[in-house]
Amino acid sequence: MVRIGARILSSGLDFLDWLGGDRTGKPAVQGGEPLGIGIVGCGFVADFYAASLANHPELAIKSAFDLDRSRAERVIAQTGGTVSDDLEQLLRDPAVSIVVNLTNPASHAHITRAALQAGKHVYSEKPLALDMGEASELVDLAKARGVMLGCAPCTALGDTAQAIHKAVKRGDIGTPRLVYAELDDGPIHKMQPWEWASPQGTPWPWQDELATGCTLEHAGYHLSWMVMMFGPIETVSGFARLVAPDKGLPEGSGLSPGNDFSVGCLTFSNGVTARLTCSTVAPHDHRFRVIGDEGEIFTDACWNMDAPVWVRRFSALGLRAETYPVVQRIGLLRWIFRLDGRLSDLRPRPPWRRRLRRHHIDYALGIADLARAIQTGRQPALSGENALHVTAAMLAIDRAGSGTSVIPSPAAQGKAS
Ligand SMILES: NC(=O)c1ccc[n+]([C@@H]2O[C@H](COP(=O)([O-])OP(=O)(O)OC[C@H]3O[C@@H](n4cnc5c(N)ncnc54)[C@H](O)[C@@H]3O)[C@@H](O)[C@H]2O)c1
Repeated sequence: MVRIGARILSSGLDFLDWLGGDRTGKPAVQGGEPLGIGIVGCGFVADFYAASLANHPELAIKSAFDLDRSRAERVIAQTGGTVSDDLEQLLRDPAVSIVVNLTNPASHAHITRAALQAGKHVYSEKPLALDMGEASELVDLAKARGVMLGCAPCTALGDTAQAIHKAVKRGDIGTPRLVYAELDDGPIHKMQPWEWASPQGTPWPWQDELATGCTLEHAGYHLSWMVMMFGPIETVSGFARLVAPDKGLPEGSGLSPGNDFSVGCLTFSNGVTARLTCSTVAPHDHRFRVIGDEGEIFTDACWNMDAPVWVRRFSALGLRAETYPVVQRIGLLRWIFRLDGRLSDLRPRPPWRRRLRRHHIDYALGIADLARAIQTGRQPALSGENALHVTAAMLAIDRAGSGTSVIPSPAAQGKAS
């Protein structure tokens, strides 16, 4: 068990501010010029950032840089701005206020450090860094330079997470006790990921994703929801393992697969206990369930910012009925006993077209929050401290390995008795 340090969440911002806040794209300070953004790393996810920046007229891309110049040119063709010849040129550009770091995880710390040293605010893709020393140093550097640091994922700011947060706070399920959070992303290596590409044709970096491993790539989504809802993490017990080693990563490429399965059991400062599972082995499951004394609240699509939220109130009859497998399997019986709950009155109401989509994330929402924080002087909701805390938990789970208590074989036990 790892005790997570208390250098935590100094933002002091109640995320519920978002529910009353302005998410329509108007700048927090009316009449201001759009804040200039410099994108570093123009790969797969940059195409999604570029598309979602269209929802945020208070932000404008001024410059982009990638080691592969053609990629920066592709982003700039979508958004306007200029292509920088190197990182230094982008960092010298006075029109760039926020550097958005969309490089691969191994480059995150280096790029963020350079940008903070240049006096720029930074919004980084997750994870903040691959090492606690580096992550901590970045948070300190931002403070020392008097600039702001924010970090993805931003799904905690979406309607689904906010609706669950508000329902829990309102007491819809009584006192929350337990969370089951799943981030099984399917056996990616069996899904021809080398054919996946963004709408602009940028290939999905499947080799890098599998090498980084499921925990560092994905645990941050549910962890950031839980920290928002239940406060700081106090302890983490982890287990992580490479379950299916043959992922087809090219030999001699220097890449080897990271852990593809992990479980973390966490306790939170408000007494809630959680079990978080990540994998790229088990079939797709993105559920998030909060179980309280009087019911449970859940969603089944944590990468959909406006996925429906369901609330099930416990009844003795329903709890007993579900112990019958036949009731579990037959939809009509589930409905009669209300096992799937009812839509929360706080539920997001997406337009029908969006309901057909697999994922829906407004990637630029986190940058918009950072911009508002810069303009108003408050801390960003997705602050560096927050990311440091989440990174500590992710690393504790991923580095936990696969257990230290070796159970003697039945034969050995027989001899001993
Ligand atoms: N791929 C996804 O589905 C997804 C979704 C959400 C978040 N993310 C996160 O976004 C980040 C980027 O992922 P991606 O899918 O776009 O990867 P990618 O490999 O497609 O793109 C990364 C880009 O960064 C560039 N780069 C790397 N080091 C650089 C450096 N030092 N200077 C300049 N450019 C550099 C690379 O040339 C590449 O074009 C990762 O942290 C990932 O975890 C990815």
